[in-house]
Amino acid sequence: MPPTPKTLIDYDSTMLHAHAILGFAAATNKKSKLNTIFSKHTIDKLPFPTSVPLYGPPPTKISNPTKETLALIEALQGADTHAYFHASNHAAHTYNFCKFHGVSDDRLDDMYYGSLLHDIGKIFFKELVALPRKLTPDEFSELHQHTVVSFIILAACKYPNFVAWSGLFHHLSYDQSHGYPQIDANLIKTIEFISKEMSFPIPAENYLNFSSITREDWDALNILVLTDALDASIDPHRAYKSSLLLSNVAADFETSSDYGWKTMFNPSLKTTFMKYLEWLLPYTNEKA
Ligand SMILES: [Fe+2]
Ligand SMILES: [Fe+2]
Repeated sequence: MPPTPKTLIDYDSTMLHAHAILGFAAATNKKSKLNTIFSKHTIDKLPFPTSVPLYGPPPTKISNPTKETLALIEALQGADTHAYFHASNHAAHTYNFCKFHGVSDDRLDDMYYGSLLHDIGKIFFKELVALPRKLTPDEFSELHQHTVVSFIILAACKYPNFVAWSGLFHHLSYDQSHGYPQIDANLIKTIEFISKEMSFPIPAENYLNFSSITREDWDALNILVLTDALDASIDPHRAYKSSLLLSNVAADFETSSDYGWKTMFNPSLKTTFMKYLEWLLPYTNEKA
């Protein structure tokens, strides 16, 4: 059995988490090379993106991440380079969008880290993600669990509730009617089961108190849903899905019923989103 971390106040205890992740990987027969990843620690700052320009300098807290964040990002980088770039790009899109939308700085920190770490659970799904074909329905269902695993890791690491919820709900629509996971008794059971398998206890009940998520929280979470879908749409490296040109994203989000304005995104974000696309376009090779 891997050791169960008691606290996460220093770098050594972060490594205990790494070993617990390894235990989970073994328990679920997901062959992971995390042991080699965690044998060296080279990252000393966050990977500010090269492919997404930043709208202004990042605030101090974002420039000074905790050691847990650095270790998790390093794990993601080692497990799946593509997911690492997606995380970094997603965080940059969220940061930029929040600036355009006038989101307050006290929200911005949590939204930045929520974006950066939303897919951290994909460390355990890298074989599925890398399949060079369309996934079967069963494989899709399995991949959907990355949201639960992200949530458990972020809660176990004692990130703020909003950051953990970013992991859990970044594929759920703004009114919770579309996407996943649906919030019901099964969700709590699934979380508790996987949390036990991982030896990653949820450290406080308030992480699971989803009725305490305010309208403002859901609105902020939906910005992450939107910026995640944006980066996923234009990402040229996604194996199982072809990418869009940035100039085609607006039309795609208009018509899609899986993700888009019909189902997933809060219509009140649309004006800002269109302005953001306009700002971003000159940074691509596409003609305006
Ligand atoms: Fe995801
Ligand atoms: Fe994502």
